[in-house]
Amino acid sequence: MNGNKIYHLSYVSTGCDGLRFEHIKEILDVSNENNKETGITGILVYCNKHFFQILEGDKSSVEELFAKIAIDPRHDNVIKLQCTYVAKRQFEKWSMGFKSYNKELKLLDNFNTEEFYCYVKDQLNDCNAVSLRILADFFDLNG
Ligand SMILES: Cc1cc2nc3c(=O)[nH]c(=O)nc-3n(C[C@H](O)[C@H](O)[C@H](O)COP(=O)(O)O)c2cc1C
Repeated sequence: MNGNKIYHLSYVSTGCDGLRFEHIKEILDVSNENNKETGITGILVYCNKHFFQILEGDKSSVEELFAKIAIDPRHDNVIKLQCTYVAKRQFEKWSMGFKSYNKELKLLDNFNTEEFYCYVKDQLNDCNAVSLRILADFFDLNG
């Protein structure tokens, strides 16, 4: 069951006090390296101390990673939004896409919203992931 489907998990959290450029850069560097090895793809959005992340891959890899992320002291109030299976990856090009809405972190962005939006908007009707729809609407409204 679900043998050839992709597990999709999303959550929101609050960055810890004193979280700075270097901390986020380190998270992204480690994520890109680890996620390539474990076959996980996704996106991390940072906005005014809040994270939103979507992880996709096989269920055991995603759940194992999420268990580590949930106890990471660099953030708090980790709240799962959605766990579901989707027919295909939405972030296959990104071992961890990053988009920030904080000016001082813009340098770390590796994610082109327009590219993403064009890419997923045709598929949104076929995708049952509510978190992806929320993300697409968020990008649509906020750029
Ligand atoms: C908001 C946030 C998102 C993270 N996302 C990932 C991720 O996608 N992949 C990853 O390997 N680690 C991620 N981490 C870091 C993990 O919590 C953990 O520090 C890291 O996986 C440990 O890697 P190691 O076992 O190789 O030392 C994230 C941490 C935070 C705070």
